[in-house]
Amino acid sequence: MDVVIAGAGSIGLLFGSFLAEKGHRVTFLVRRAEQAERLVKEGLVKYRNGLEVSRQEVKAILNEADIPEDAFIIVAVKTGGITEVVNKLRSLPNPLLFIQNGLSHYEMAMNLDATSRSMAFATVEHGAERLGDNMVAHHGIGFTKIAVGRGIETDFRWFETLQSEVFPVEFHPNAEKLLLRKVIVNCLINPLTAILLQKNGELLRNRQSKELFDQLYDEIMAVFPEMKTELPYDQASEICRRTASNTSSMLTDRMRGNRMEIDAIVGALIRKAEARGGALPMLSIFEKLLVAMDGAGGLKRSWED
Ligand code: PAF
Repeated sequence: MDVVIAGAGSIGLLFGSFLAEKGHRVTFLVRRAEQAERLVKEGLVKYRNGLEVSRQEVKAILNEADIPEDAFIIVAVKTGGITEVVNKLRSLPNPLLFIQNGLSHYEMAMNLDATSRSMAFATVEHGAERLGDNMVAHHGIGFTKIAVGRGIETDFRWFETLQSEVFPVEFHPNAEKLLLRKVIVNCLINPLTAILLQKNGELLRNRQSKELFDQLYDEIMAVFPEMKTELPYDQASEICRRTASNTSSMLTDRMRGNRMEIDAIVGALIRKAEARGGALPMLSIFEKLLVAMDGAGGLKRSWED
């Protein structure tokens, strides 16, 4: 199958690699000619435990007009870039799978004009790091969960053919619940790792960090009790354990001086809690700390200035 992946960051590259390994024709839709050239010339390389485990031939395009007619499209850009991509894909009828953190992309996607097209949302619990334009490190195995937002599930069922020990796939009946579950996972892991400068596994190994993790879990579940069955404590800590050696996306952004996805992840959950008359005081303090740190030009620069 022709699969176009809009966005070649850590998750886009990781998905591209698993798809190409299964024989799918993978094309990346990217913004920079330099990245397109590198992907085509050098292939897409995946590392695990510091070793190259796969090198796949892929294509790359800069323009949506070059998307193959029957292609399945995966939107794997970060929340900050989603409006631009959605506007480019607006008039196409192809099925779309969105993989973003947060909740805000849900409504934007569901309000797209081409109402006949199928649309699904995925959450990804892998630890992944983009090492370069064509290189990704797989730091931890996690579930890919998919829920159909609109249209027919069979448009997406083929994804199960990717199923393996290193790429578990599961379908979920409710897209909004699935995204909320992932936002909670992200709120538990990302702010603490970004503030404390810890890899995911440290949150469970360090006694103080674990206390904060546990308290935050209780705080969130007190406001969203129905999510306890969707995300029992053991599952939340298991995600940390599976991605122990991973640097969370928020910590990666902080270290690189990129904007962190604070509003899409933390702000979204705080607003959702407020909408039902609840409060998340601990998470709100973490939000303030993160906002104070954000955009400081990366750890090294903010220290030196
Ligand atoms: O944002 C991230 O880093 C990831 O979603 C996760 C699953 C928390 C692993 O680090």
